[in-house]
Amino acid sequence: MIPESFIQELLNRVDVVDVIDKSVPLKKAGANYSACCPFHNEKSPSFTVSPTKQFYHCFGCGAHGTAVGFLMEYQGLSFVEAIQELAKMVGMIVPQETRDENRPAQKLVVGLQESLQQAAQYYKAELKKSQRAIDYLKARGLSGQVAAKFQIGYAPAGWQNLQTVFPDYENEALSTAGLVVQNEQGRRYDRFRDRIMFPIHDQKGQVIGFGGRVINPEDTPKYYNSPETPLFQKGHELYGLFLARRAIREAGRALVVEGYMDVVALAQYGIEYAIAALGTATTPFHITKLMRQADEIVFCFDGDNAGRTAAWRAAMNALPALTDGLKLSFLFLPKEHDPDSYVREFGKEKFEAEIKVAMPLSQFILKHLSEENALQSQEDRVRFLNEAEPILQQINAPRSAMYLRKKVAELAQLSLEEMHALLKLPNLNKAPVQARPKLTRTTISLHKRVSLMLLMQPDLANAEDLEWLPSETEEEELLRLTIETCLLHPHSKPVVIMRELEDKVDTKLFRELERELSLLDETLDLALEFAGAKQQLEQVYVHKQGGELLAQISEKPLSALTENERAMLKNLGNKPSRNRV
Ligand code: UTP
Ligand code: MN
Repeated sequence: MIPESFIQELLNRVDVVDVIDKSVPLKKAGANYSACCPFHNEKSPSFTVSPTKQFYHCFGCGAHGTAVGFLMEYQGLSFVEAIQELAKMVGMIVPQETRDENRPAQKLVVGLQESLQQAAQYYKAELKKSQRAIDYLKARGLSGQVAAKFQIGYAPAGWQNLQTVFPDYENEALSTAGLVVQNEQGRRYDRFRDRIMFPIHDQKGQVIGFGGRVINPEDTPKYYNSPETPLFQKGHELYGLFLARRAIREAGRALVVEGYMDVVALAQYGIEYAIAALGTATTPFHITKLMRQADEIVFCFDGDNAGRTAAWRAAMNALPALTDGLKLSFLFLPKEHDPDSYVREFGKEKFEAEIKVAMPLSQFILKHLSEENALQSQEDRVRFLNEAEPILQQINAPRSAMYLRKKVAELAQLSLEEMHALLKLPNLNKAPVQARPKLTRTTISLHKRVSLMLLMQPDLANAEDLEWLPSETEEEELLRLTIETCLLHPHSKPVVIMRELEDKVDTKLFRELERELSLLDETLDLALEFAGAKQQLEQVYVHKQGGELLAQISEKPLSALTENERAMLKNLGNKPSRNRV
């Protein structure tokens, strides 16, 4: 059994958009994302994914559900397998719960989110108390407004300040969250001491980690970040993305910079669509994430050599994610500047003018390859081709790839055909791979449907129904058991009731129910649906009973029918009354 608390935390953590986009590339469409539905054949997209509601819905075939449901339906996984899969994606370990004892292992993961949130509150409050920290931020030109917007805080000097926030300082959650460090002697102390604190949020706005900057210039390291934790993976997260989301969508553009301070300063000067990779190179995952929000990504790294190296690395990492609809460019600042200092000195307009003329990716690639290559001798050109090959191999976007190939061939003094004969390059005319199976949706039986609705809203269960509902088939048995369980737990969550049912009902039915359960979205008006479904169900039994009656009656001569039997015959096919037959 997987503890419910874990499932909650996991679902908190995953973004349905990320999960689906891995298998079905999504395109932003207003506040939502859309694609052609993977569950039925269609030419125009009617499949939408809502990042705020965290579920998908197809207007064409009615497929809908959460991230769990998607994996179950798309990959044909069981509920448990889907949970395992999701946990793997976000780097969480699925704890096992035994029924008799509450093992401490589950405490490990549970509570991380809360601890980080509480720590962020604490750091924010501490900033207000520290004149030294305030002076530092002021000296760097930060407005109070922008500091508040980014929830900047201060971790005071001292080894165990967090003890005032977390009386249970020994709690594993604190070390797992990266707030507390334990040394070899087992002594525990605060990770962040005397640092300006930048909370890092996930795409839902929850704190998942911190970056802490020293105030004393002689302290090292300059920035200290949260370690990788179950909630925080640097290769996946971007600093400032949550706050920048709207601005990115409005501008149709994301600006990728290197530092926390760059993001904050740009926002203060009105460029609110900037985000930063977290002290790591930009990963393909970052790029894909951004591509879903904007058609244009501009990289603006520091003007120094490290910045240039980072830009090249970002370019290389972007290659597999490129599409023909995406515009990628690079803005190189003067050597002595980073985006923070540049926007402070020259302002928003000049910065945005520079963005407009930033160097396109293709040009950056060609410039870089020919920078230290005069392309004069045959040997020069061979080296150039050798260096270009792995780059060209990674670009699958047909148009961008073709233009770049032509340019490379030109510079190498070959015809396109000659170059194609020499290099192993992907075939750009190939039809896009049909990677995903088209699944068909099966309709769900009435008994299961009613059971499902009861699971979702147990207080709809009515003891009266037990009086007339037979328990001859597995499905009838399931419904009866569901009603009974719901009557006992009228305010419990579906998971709780499922747990009760697990050992009692047919295994196959149980799996199907689990699967369907994850597909339902909680916003359905269940009361209405339920009334409708129950009416159908009643009708089944009226007809069934009517059929049996008819069979009996048909054997009798008309004269032998009782008054009652005649009345029933007359009423056959009419809507059943609320008080069943
Ligand atoms: P920079 O040194 O360019 O930082 O490092 P910055 O943001 O311009 O900082 P200020 O202006 O001096 O305050 C860029 C990024 O690299 C990571 C941080 O994410 C930082 O924002 N970094 C840098 C570290 O993780 N550790 C370090 O020691 C230094
Ligand atoms: Mn800086």
